[in-house]
Amino acid sequence: MITMLLSFSLTYLWSQEESIPQIGVEAPSFTAQSTNGKIHFPSDFGKNWKIIFSHPKDFTPVCSSEMLELAYQQESFEELGAKLIIVSTDILAQHESWKAALEEIHYKDRDPVKIKFPLVEDNNLEISELYGMIHSTENIKQNIRGVYFINPENEIRALFFYPNQVGRNIDELKRTLIALQSNYKSAETVTPANWQPGDDVVIPTLSKLDKENLGNADSDFYQLSWFMTYKKSK
Ligand code: BEZ
Repeated sequence: MITMLLSFSLTYLWSQEESIPQIGVEAPSFTAQSTNGKIHFPSDFGKNWKIIFSHPKDFTPVCSSEMLELAYQQESFEELGAKLIIVSTDILAQHESWKAALEEIHYKDRDPVKIKFPLVEDNNLEISELYGMIHSTENIKQNIRGVYFINPENEIRALFFYPNQVGRNIDELKRTLIALQSNYKSAETVTPANWQPGDDVVIPTLSKLDKENLGNADSDFYQLSWFMTYKKSK
């Protein structure tokens, strides 16, 4: 009996981990209620980038700070053509009252902010299971702190996971989005470590002509080694 139970638990844990979608796969579709009405994902979001942001629980301090920091930066995500979608296993009524409470807070001496992005109800864990948001070693009913970057073709392009104890850096989400978008616009453009918008980018391969022109003042490219070629941002 104990062996059977152990085997069942291990299979359960394994299947949860297996369900995390990989980079490059199609983002799973879903329909759910949200603070902005019913959401049909991805069809409601057209050709935008989408960032699905899962959190463990409404009315908790770290999650509240993340929601507020996202809300203060929501216009800049909008300007980048990215839609934010917040998911947790809380019910819609809980999302509504948490949102109202957050909208009254003067966070870090700033004026209160209206939350325009949807908080999606996933009380039946449908979205959480599709996206591998439940990491059962942490909690079997609450989402991990997950971030899924999804391109206009609805492909997953990056994923982050953080434990309950560490709040996410919203500037890093924006930096990652901009890096993904620059690679989306120009596939040979790749961003090096600690890249910030405006910095030089890495070029994995150079054309014969550009290779011959390396070292000339008018070249757009330079090398730190034969295996590290950069393109000047100008
Ligand atoms: C928080 O957001 O503060 C939190 C959420 C779940 C567990 C612990 C902390």
